[in-house]
Amino acid sequence: MSGYSSEELVDNIKSLKKEKKAVIFGNYFQLPEIQDICDFIGDSLELTQKANETNADVIVFCGVNYMAETGKILAPDKKVLIPDLEAVCNLTESCPADEFETFIKARPKYTIISYINSSAEVKALSDIIVTSRNAVSIVNSIPYDENIIFAPDRNLGAYINNLTARNMVLWNGTCSIHDVLSNERVLALKENHPEAKLIAHPRCKPEILKIADFVGSTTALLEYTRKTKDEEFIVATDSGIIHQMKKYNPDKSFIIIPTDESAMCNECPHMKLNNLEKLYNCILNEEYEIKLSDEIINKAKVPLERMLDLSKKLSF
Ligand code: 13P
Repeated sequence: MSGYSSEELVDNIKSLKKEKKAVIFGNYFQLPEIQDICDFIGDSLELTQKANETNADVIVFCGVNYMAETGKILAPDKKVLIPDLEAVCNLTESCPADEFETFIKARPKYTIISYINSSAEVKALSDIIVTSRNAVSIVNSIPYDENIIFAPDRNLGAYINNLTARNMVLWNGTCSIHDVLSNERVLALKENHPEAKLIAHPRCKPEILKIADFVGSTTALLEYTRKTKDEEFIVATDSGIIHQMKKYNPDKSFIIIPTDESAMCNECPHMKLNNLEKLYNCILNEEYEIKLSDEIINKAKVPLERMLDLSKKLSF
């Protein structure tokens, strides 16, 4: 422990950031105090675009490991840091690269599309990367007669299959904080709050997505709450995003879905590992640095750049 107060940590982080020409990126599932000190927060597509464009010397990713790895793949000459190495993504972990390689080898001639929440090694095995924001448009841009494997999130895959009338083969992975949200609880909340709009991330179960008023990436959900005249929302994603929703909509109300008894809560515990103390130490000591082999970087860069390129051409 540094012994600094939160205010001192914030001041120290700000001056270290200047001194080291560092930039801090984060996602909406971070603790509020981390969100507030980030130079940029966004969904996975926006974070990837920013990492690709930044001229900072050091990029600190307040998120989970696949985000920092993505930054390193796109900016291999920069120092890419993460405040806590234990901040892993359970969805990424649900698709080990060796098992995925066996899975795709059994299905030759398939186009391999991987969601960005995948390891660098899985990205290196893929043809195109997608995020929840651009997935439907990118899949639609692929000739209809092409066979596709989609990994690792089966709920997002089923959602894309539904909207694109495809039959992509799905890897059987899930995100534990989204997949745990139960339809019964959502229906009970809808009954108690008949005016509330249900807004959901596409990693939720199909039965929730079916009854949602709006489905989208984290940024899309936030934008929806800003643009609509509706005033009450049942939010089917990590509760970390409520911080921004309240900031932008102080007079609107946001209802978190309580999770089943079997789950701790609808907060990703890995995302919440990053805190001000760890962020301060991360910039001060320039640790923990993301290291990937040149071979993985060179292979994983190809499908990521394909996604960035397609994202400039497609509308979504
Ligand atoms: P998206 O909104 O881009 O899906 O990002 C959220 C996320 O995946 C955090 O793991």
